[in-house]
Amino acid sequence: MNVYDAIHRRRDVRAEFTGAPIPEDVLEKVLMAAHAAPSVGLSQPWDFVLVSDPAIRTAFYDHVQSERAAFAGTLKGAEAERFARIKIDGVLESSLSVVVTYDPERGGPAVLGRHAIADAGLYSVCLAIQNLWLAATAEGLGVGWVSFYREPHLRELLGIPVGIRPVAWLCLGPVSHLEGIPDLERHGWRRRRGLDAAVHHDRW
Ligand SMILES: Cc1cc2nc3c(=O)[nH]c(=O)nc-3n(C[C@H](O)[C@H](O)[C@H](O)COP(=O)(O)O)c2cc1C
Repeated sequence: MNVYDAIHRRRDVRAEFTGAPIPEDVLEKVLMAAHAAPSVGLSQPWDFVLVSDPAIRTAFYDHVQSERAAFAGTLKGAEAERFARIKIDGVLESSLSVVVTYDPERGGPAVLGRHAIADAGLYSVCLAIQNLWLAATAEGLGVGWVSFYREPHLRELLGIPVGIRPVAWLCLGPVSHLEGIPDLERHGWRRRRGLDAAVHHDRW
């Protein structure tokens, strides 16, 4: 698969996980792709917590359900009905969960390129996540990013040290297929914006 195929075939997966195991060598390649991402000042501020313990995943799933209910409580009418039909995670169905964290102390105190933009460290973690997502797609795996959680809850659940931020809970594993259209678009939640609307010339 070339890079454009991977970019355009990539999907956020919730319902299509088969639960089949991920071959060790494939997991290694996908994690190496994440670890090869660019990072501000070569700080490589990410870590990857591989969560296979069903008890931990069930505890996280329960928390996600309560955050889902909290969000649903802010919606009304047709929007509430649409949201009720949307699956927001595949925590229990996927083969493995990968929690990606950010360590702002890594490579410090003089992180080259971060003195004016503290968020540059966080951007670096997101690039690692995107590398993982594209590599997984190229390997025929699906990835689903779950952000329906409170950081202190996840920190406590996984024993993440104070000062290190969990950035993403990623569901990973073989899938039956990848949908051609994002779930949120298929469920009429939101449509994608065209490129023309996003490109500006010379000034915003
Ligand atoms: C930072 C981030 C957080 C996300 N959190 C969730 C989530 O909690 N649950 C979910 O179902 N999808 C989540 N998504 C997936 C988006 O809904 C999805 O990327 C978007 O609808 C476009 O679909 P596509 O990724 O299939 O192209 C998240 C994506 C990103 C980048």
